[in-house]
Amino acid sequence: MIDHPRRPWIVGVSGASGTPYAAATIRALLEAGQDVDLVVSRAARLTILDETGIGFRDGHWREDLAAWFGWPADHPRLDAVRYWAAGDFAAGPSSGSYPARGMVVVPASTAAVAGIALGLSKDLLQRAADVTLKERRPLVVCVRETPLNRATLRHMLELDEAGAVVLPAAPGFYAGLKDVQQLVDFVAGKILDVLGVEHTLFQRWRGEIGSARP
Ligand SMILES: Cc1cc2nc3c(=O)[nH]c(=O)nc-3n(C[C@H](O)[C@H](O)[C@H](O)COP(=O)(O)O)c2cc1C
Repeated sequence: MIDHPRRPWIVGVSGASGTPYAAATIRALLEAGQDVDLVVSRAARLTILDETGIGFRDGHWREDLAAWFGWPADHPRLDAVRYWAAGDFAAGPSSGSYPARGMVVVPASTAAVAGIALGLSKDLLQRAADVTLKERRPLVVCVRETPLNRATLRHMLELDEAGAVVLPAAPGFYAGLKDVQQLVDFVAGKILDVLGVEHTLFQRWRGEIGSARP
């Protein structure tokens, strides 16, 4: 008899600035009752340390993730997270037979954009993205860089052609957003829209000027 498998979203955090986008996306997935498999690249440890002051450790990921989210370590939503070390090529998300729904890379470094576009699979994050594309599952790549050089622009086009959604971390301002968290949540909401996961992260446009303002 085969158990009903857990069907997680894989969230890959790479080493671009913008770790609040990762936190907002993971929190929103968990709050929507989704399961999350988390992969944090080696470089992302530097951005997390720089932007939050938290030294993210494989062996203490639950405490470190809780601290990052401002949650207690025994927060029940963290039970829906499975963590895989970035160097673990034997991890579930390395295989197409692992029952993932799809994947988000948030934030995506230009190195991750290049590695995924070229199929380098240099770590578990890139391998999981490669698997997501070959299995024709949704892949959202939330690139965070500006300005963009020609190589990155080409890699983004290749990702689009391969079926990924390239979603720049570029919040819109039509929803009457007033603080940084609202701008961050706007981007996380656009990611969840692509995944088809319900959320209330921003007010939607309703067809009239000013209609998305709270
Ligand atoms: C504090 C810090 C901020 C960074 N910000 C960015 C960024 O916004 N965009 C980017 O593409 N790379 C950024 N980098 C460089 C990447 O971390 C670097 O290219 C790395 O190789 C990415 O590896 P990864 O894709 O395996 O995570 C940053 C690095 C550090 C230390």
